[in-house]
Amino acid sequence: MPDSSAVIVIRSSTEADVPAMLEIYGYHIQNGLGPFDIEPLHPDELKRRRKAMLKRRLPHLVAEIDGTVVGYAYAAPFRKRPAYRYTVEHSIYVHKDFRGMGIGRRLLPALIEALEKTNSRQMIAVVDSANAPSRRLHEACGFVEAGVLRSVGFKFGRWTDSVFLQRALGAADWQLPDDHLGGTVQAGE
Ligand SMILES: CC(C)(COP(=O)(O)OP(=O)(O)OC[C@H]1O[C@@H](n2cnc3c(N)ncnc32)[C@H](O)[C@@H]1OP(=O)(O)O)[C@@H](O)C(=O)NCCC(=O)NCCS
Repeated sequence: MPDSSAVIVIRSSTEADVPAMLEIYGYHIQNGLGPFDIEPLHPDELKRRRKAMLKRRLPHLVAEIDGTVVGYAYAAPFRKRPAYRYTVEHSIYVHKDFRGMGIGRRLLPALIEALEKTNSRQMIAVVDSANAPSRRLHEACGFVEAGVLRSVGFKFGRWTDSVFLQRALGAADWQLPDDHLGGTVQAGE
């Protein structure tokens, strides 16, 4: 069992972290309610996803203890259509042996902080309704429930509900996006 006083370092991921991230994700695909993939990912697919996020200048972070990657988190566009361009959906995964020791509580705020330096204004998590640790983590980091989609997933032989959790980022909807005139939102706009 890892030492709960271990120093957790959060940093941007590199391509060399891909095997460790695949191992973490692979376990959760097979055993957990977190991922919405149901087959193990090919390493090239994870590399492709990581590069696509970096190209969009979105953060892709890992948590490390004593040089070992024990978790990762990243943001992706919420939906492809351009009007959603200021909204991101994120994912967070902690190594099975390091859960419940505060790594999520370090990684998620670091992701929020990194996103606040981008032009993103809203952050969405899509969480299985039965995933208590993830719901708790998100609530602790300021996310609020924004809706439940019933029976939209099918995993482990049963239908699953997805909860949308939302958190505003930075100026949120109080100001227009930085790259759009830069003004404050006026009534009637
Ligand atoms: C969900 C996950 C990212 C949380 O990370 P973690 O490092 O285990 O969580 P932490 O130790 O930082 O704890 C975060 C909060 O959740 C709570 N928590 C942790 N494990 C819990 C559990 N089994 N049941 C209920 N709450 C739990 C903690 O008490 C803490 O809340 P608090 O700060 O109010 O005390 C991690 O468990 C994980 O990777 N799970 C599998 C993959 C997954 O579900 N990812 C999320 C997809 S949306």
